[in-house]
Amino acid sequence: MKDNKTFTMIKPDAVGNGHIGAILDQIIKGGFKITAMKYTKLTEQKAGEFYEVHKERPFYGELVSFMSSGPIVAAILEKDNAVDDFRKLIGATDPSKADKGTIRQLFAESIGANAIHGSDSTENAQIEGSFFFSSLEKF
Ligand code: RTP
Ligand code: MG
Repeated sequence: MKDNKTFTMIKPDAVGNGHIGAILDQIIKGGFKITAMKYTKLTEQKAGEFYEVHKERPFYGELVSFMSSGPIVAAILEKDNAVDDFRKLIGATDPSKADKGTIRQLFAESIGANAIHGSDSTENAQIEGSFFFSSLEKF
């Protein structure tokens, strides 16, 4: 599979704190092209499905309730080496460990409320993008 797409969500904390514009600006300046985007809100059930891989983890309940607590921005992004380059742009899961200038270092509150999601593989980017977007909504 061609590694030129990844999937992201601007999480409820960053949306609520007014960081949508600043984060999209970092994404675009980072060389990513937006090929799909929507402003939406996950139900608890949908958030549970999205994070199903983490079902057995101790933070799963907290994660599902946080991700359904407010609106998010979901997007598909295109760039060479998209998955790895985007993970570098967003920084470590725990914002206190994220490199300076990364999106999480700049905008995240905590390991739970960490501003942004980035897919961890090209295969998952494809699955996650299709979770939110129909073929008519991807360009
Ligand atoms: P994401 O999937 O959201 O991009 O984050 P990630 O790959 O950096 O981290 P992952 O291991 O996939 O975990 C998914 C999300 O669960 C929350 N989390 N909380 N309390 C905790 O110890 C803990 N660990 C993970 C984070 O919000 C993380 O982004
Ligand atoms: Mg992850």
